[in-house]
Amino acid sequence: MDEVLKRQDSGELKRRLHGRDLIGFGVGIIIGTGIFTLAGVEAKTHAGPSVTLSFVLGAVVAGMAALCYAELASSVPTAGSAYTYAFATLGETFAWIIGWDLLLEFALGAAVVSRGWSGYLANLMGLSPDWFGEDAKVNVGAVVIIAVLTVIAVLGIKESARVTNLLVLVKVAVCVLILAVGVFYIRGENLTPFIPAAQPPTETAGTLHQPIVQAALGLEQSVYGIAGMVTAAAVVFFAYTGFEALANLGEETVNPKRDLRVGILGALGVCALLYIGVSLVLTGMVPFAEIDAGAPLADAFDRVGQHWVGALISLGAVTGLTSVMMVELVTIGRIGFAMGRDGLLPKKFGTAHPRWGTPHRMTIAGAVLIAALAAFVPISELADMVSIGALSAMIIVALAVPVLRKRRPDLERPFTVPFSPYLPIVAALACFYLMLNLDVMTWLRFAAWLGLGMLIYLFYGRKHSRFAKDELSSTDRPS
Ligand code: ALA
Repeated sequence: MDEVLKRQDSGELKRRLHGRDLIGFGVGIIIGTGIFTLAGVEAKTHAGPSVTLSFVLGAVVAGMAALCYAELASSVPTAGSAYTYAFATLGETFAWIIGWDLLLEFALGAAVVSRGWSGYLANLMGLSPDWFGEDAKVNVGAVVIIAVLTVIAVLGIKESARVTNLLVLVKVAVCVLILAVGVFYIRGENLTPFIPAAQPPTETAGTLHQPIVQAALGLEQSVYGIAGMVTAAAVVFFAYTGFEALANLGEETVNPKRDLRVGILGALGVCALLYIGVSLVLTGMVPFAEIDAGAPLADAFDRVGQHWVGALISLGAVTGLTSVMMVELVTIGRIGFAMGRDGLLPKKFGTAHPRWGTPHRMTIAGAVLIAALAAFVPISELADMVSIGALSAMIIVALAVPVLRKRRPDLERPFTVPFSPYLPIVAALACFYLMLNLDVMTWLRFAAWLGLGMLIYLFYGRKHSRFAKDELSSTDRPS
């Protein structure tokens, strides 16, 4: 444990970020495909107007998890975030699992967003869907944007923060525009009933695409109703993922304790308000069954004759999605850096570039994986995986709070979760509940990814870990 904490000031990454940079990063990574695309898709397929409630539910769960993140981030402010917290509290095996899990979340998240970006760009510039759309055999647009952003990420964090802050402004402005104009086109009849009655799905999707809790209980498949709203909450949880990336930047903030707290909670609060407003406007403007699954928000304004707003939304989506990918790439670099430094991944990943001060090797390795996924795998196959990865990581983070308080009551905690251990336990249960509403296929894929991770750990990480090599006496090992 002490060794884990000591490593936080190894001085390899440069401390140059402030709280406002973190809010920029946070909003930059949080607002993305979740609101621009998934909100519409989930309203149409699972929840109707009650997708707004799904966003409220998602915000409550993400908010509780964010409080847990904020406590750990302020008391263990170091690169690697949940990975490092798990190391400090639950030991190496859990740390590996969570690090592996986070790599999945961010790599697949970036792949989803790069494909969404490519589609919006095609829409905006009239490019061929054969190379840029969801039906493309090889999605060239997605690969090109990942390559460009990787160069920026490798060149340095401050440069990345500057680019991100600029893009974030555009994205927030577009959301505000949607609210300000859209509110005049809300029609009460589109919002009634707010929670549509449950009904059987139009196409039988099969057990693999049924929420695992329904399949386990042997229930009939259905959509809409309360169950549909909760399923949509599990899926749109994707929209909130990303705030945890801020905790990875602890080693690069000027005043980690204050900056992390302001950054994490501030960014999540801003996003939750925008999501709730935008989803209400969207479902108020368009009868949910008629929502366009490709570009729901732009289409809603086209339908009411406000084409200029539609065009600005597409432009905002293209710029906004760029910032999401940017931060995801930066985060993958930092998590891999921490895992490489500990020897769980090859040591080469755990060194920063001598001049640029960025974990360049891991960033590039992550980018290659993302580009390969984004080139060939459709969005629908990837998005749920991001949610399940994020939710499972949050369970471990939430449980780590009371464990760390018990094991290390002496640690300075500038931010503390209220009502611990109850709130962390409720947070963990709420995350698990949302996970149960994801489909069977998602669970199977997630199990396969974790299985692969365990094999790598058993045959590589465990042997090469710095703690396996007697660098520390057994009493110094993180407990
Ligand atoms: N939260 C991010 C999004 O909605 C991943 O795109």
